[in-house]
Amino acid sequence: MTITTTAAAPPTEADLAVPPAPVPFSELLRTRTRSGHGTSSRASFMSDLMRGTCSRDDLVRLLAQYWHVYGALEQAAVIAAAHPVAGAFVTDRLTRLPSLEADLGHLVGPAWRDHLAAVPATVEYVDRLQKAAGSSSPTAFVAHHYTRYLGDLSGGQHIGRALRLRYGLPDEATSFFTFDAIADPTAFKDEYRARLDSLPWGEADQEAVVTEVLHAYDLNARLLAELDAERGLGPSPDPGAAVRPVAVAGAAS
Ligand code: HEM
Repeated sequence: MTITTTAAAPPTEADLAVPPAPVPFSELLRTRTRSGHGTSSRASFMSDLMRGTCSRDDLVRLLAQYWHVYGALEQAAVIAAAHPVAGAFVTDRLTRLPSLEADLGHLVGPAWRDHLAAVPATVEYVDRLQKAAGSSSPTAFVAHHYTRYLGDLSGGQHIGRALRLRYGLPDEATSFFTFDAIADPTAFKDEYRARLDSLPWGEADQEAVVTEVLHAYDLNARLLAELDAERGLGPSPDPGAAVRPVAVAGAAS
């Protein structure tokens, strides 16, 4: 009996190629929502704030909107804290509402609660956050948590510096932008991204987060555009719904 052996063909380059590692979710999220970040961060309000050409009233109007937004976000966080997956993102080290109240008190005085009129996009934002808090799926909560807090720990740090440098504001008026309980924002963001990467979520849940982050960026961009409309810049997105400008006691421009 003759035994014939066929020599195995040498492996091709394709056989040897290591399959590409899956893209970490944090990277996918950043890439897929980059355009939304661009629109929010390029708003005239933000450029003027960074350049030093906003008035103290403008800053108060921004912090007043954030007071509503963070009130709702941090209420949602209380509920999310008990969730087995979303709970991992919740930490007191991020809580911003007390600093917003302190900054408003410093900028406006004791009657700061009289200066909290919300623009229409803020009302919509709060409604969206309340819906996220009431949802049985935590994807929307994580999306909103990521959009605001990672933003605060990134661009927010530059904004805080600009407010202190260009407007001469003291730390007591800009505490919203300073995370006393987070000594190293970069390390914190790396840990946060690692947490995003270890979420036990498939494609559909990941897609839901991406969609909601884009929605959150849109709400932030509209909120800023509506504050611009109040300052007489650009067309009001919804002139019928514009709120009256709010006067600030002892405001300096
Ligand atoms: C003056 C305006 C802004 C500036 C200069 C700015 C700047 C930046 C910078 C430099 C980063 C990258 C940081 C890093 O890789 O660690 C970043 C990230 C981020 N920003 Fe902004 N930003 C601004 C406005 C906003 C706004 C309005 C939002 C939305 C509320 C926002 C949300 C985010 C988020 C979520 C990230 C994290 C992206 C990621 O790494 O996954 N930013 N920003």
